[in-house]
Amino acid sequence: MSGLLAGKRLLVTGVITDASIAFSVAKIAQENGATVVLTGFGRMSLVERIAKRLPQEAPVIELDVTDPSHLDSLPQRVRAHVDGLDGVVHSIAFGPQSVLGGEFLNAGWADVAKALEVSTYSYKSLATACLPLMDAGGSIVGLTFDATKAWPVYDWMGVAKAGLESASRYLALHLGKQGIRSNLVSAGPLRTMAAKSIPGFEQFEDAWAQRAPLGWDLTDQGPAARAVCALLSDWFPATTGEIVHVDGGYHALGA
Ligand SMILES: NC(=O)c1ccc[n+]([C@@H]2O[C@H](COP(=O)([O-])OP(=O)(O)OC[C@H]3O[C@@H](n4cnc5c(N)ncnc54)[C@H](O)[C@@H]3O)[C@@H](O)[C@H]2O)c1
Repeated sequence: MSGLLAGKRLLVTGVITDASIAFSVAKIAQENGATVVLTGFGRMSLVERIAKRLPQEAPVIELDVTDPSHLDSLPQRVRAHVDGLDGVVHSIAFGPQSVLGGEFLNAGWADVAKALEVSTYSYKSLATACLPLMDAGGSIVGLTFDATKAWPVYDWMGVAKAGLESASRYLALHLGKQGIRSNLVSAGPLRTMAAKSIPGFEQFEDAWAQRAPLGWDLTDQGPAARAVCALLSDWFPATTGEIVHVDGGYHALGA
């Protein structure tokens, strides 16, 4: 098989609908020669149904990234499908409603802790769970929303993403010796299930429509997914701890 990801064995988390960024990653990766194993959270029969819509139906492994027993058994369950991993995609975020939507000053620690556990710490948990399957040349890629700025309504998810961006740099530091890279794609707003659960998300949509120098299609996960695939490939061999913006250029502007 030819293609950017020919022969690569990838674990892709985060598919819940065919609008999920992870779904586009899995699709484009398969189209470019990769073998894809998906993980699903909670609604397994739904994820299995979505997996059938890929060019090649992908196996789905259950993974709640906060469940130590799921993480401990992950290598063994992945090995039922592939003999190792060349790449891992973290496309996971969650925050209870109280941590979003303008309630920054009122959100309590228990809900904030949940957001950080699922959206930040899990990047490290997923990486370490997959390490026994990975060799030098391996690539771990996650998704962020530019955490260098305070955004309206994003609130504690923004703090979680700031932690994720830092965690990716620390993974780059600690996994570099093994030849494993960690990078993030910072995507502009996309209409996914996670995005729809953010009250006031349309403020981002309007801002991007008005300001992104290249323009921005809120319904096209392709550009972010292609960047993830590029970072999974052999074409960024000396890049780690990096954040690639796929946002129509929005981040580069001042007023
Ligand atoms: N949609 C956007 O505007 C946007 C922009 C930038 C970054 N991102 C990021 O992209 C990533 C994917 O989100 P999406 O927009 O494709 O939405 P999505 O709703 O399709 O995906 C979110 C995924 O997180 C999974 N998840 C939640 N809790 C989990 C847990 N405990 N264990 C395992 N999986 C769990 C869900 O099952 C779901 O598949 C997230 O990190 C999100 O923050 C999204």
